[in-house]
Amino acid sequence: MFERMREDIQSVFHRDPAARNAFEVVTCYPGLHAVWLHRVAHALWCSGWKWLARVVSNFSRWLTGIEIHPGAKIGRRFFIDHGMGIVIGETAEIGDDVTLYQGVTLGGTSWNKGKRHPTLEDGVVVGAGAKVLGPFTVGAGAKIGSNAVVTKAVPAGATAVGIPGKIIVKSTDEQEARRQAMAEKIGFDAYGVGPDMPDPVARAIGQLLDHLQAVDGRLEDVSRALASLDCDYRAKDLPALRDEDFAEVCKDQGGKPAA
Ligand SMILES: CC(C)(COP(=O)(O)OP(=O)(O)OC[C@H]1O[C@@H](n2cnc3c(N)ncnc32)[C@H](O)[C@@H]1OP(=O)(O)O)[C@@H](O)C(=O)NCCC(=O)NCCS
Repeated sequence: MFERMREDIQSVFHRDPAARNAFEVVTCYPGLHAVWLHRVAHALWCSGWKWLARVVSNFSRWLTGIEIHPGAKIGRRFFIDHGMGIVIGETAEIGDDVTLYQGVTLGGTSWNKGKRHPTLEDGVVVGAGAKVLGPFTVGAGAKIGSNAVVTKAVPAGATAVGIPGKIIVKSTDEQEARRQAMAEKIGFDAYGVGPDMPDPVARAIGQLLDHLQAVDGRLEDVSRALASLDCDYRAKDLPALRDEDFAEVCKDQGGKPAA
């Protein structure tokens, strides 16, 4: 038991740069108190002392502002930072080294009995105010952004943000270079919109360029295959895109055609 308490204290030092010494951590971290009281409540719950378990859980809520149902299964080195306003439902399952910030709900979306709360695998981080609702799994090492509302499974290592929670796809340098090459090839200029700009339209255009690149590659393969069949087929160059064709559209939108 003391071994587990020691690693709980260590996990605070690993995940909160504000922690200064063990005495401060033991006396001033409500997340730690909630986890320790939950262990007592969970043991009582599993031994059939359901009412007593609920009383301990309710006392913990009163003391810390963190509500963990005694039936919830929680792994090792679980760290709750700040804590106030956290709710963890009865059938929630939490792996090892998971971190939750204040205001997180691991809740259900139905009144059916049985599994109705999420499972968080090892190393998951859930940002402040996020709601994770339903009996699905958040894969190992995944991150949920603060204030996100997640109602579907999140793959291991992914990051979900927003309402409803969407997986962030970060593009690599190689992908950006490919997009740039394709944009130049088709004479497209997104008017200074760069990959570092948080613009959903720019991101959609980036994905269209990826798709164009893939279609282009496949067309070239098909052309080569047809030519090798020794038929009459001859690949022709595609007509170039001309600024004049877009001038009217750009004028309507107050923009200018690409140089
Ligand atoms: C979600 C999170 C883990 C992402 O971290 P990351 O992997 O380093 O990702 P980045 O910071 O590079 O952000 C990637 C993109 O997601 C966006 N984003 C990040 N967090 C977001 C959030 N909570 N909601 C909406 N969008 C978010 C960023 O603006 C960025 O968008 P862009 O690509 O269009 O520019 C982090 O932002 C977060 O919310 N952590 C929780 C921290 C917390 O609750 N702290 C409380 C301390 S008291």
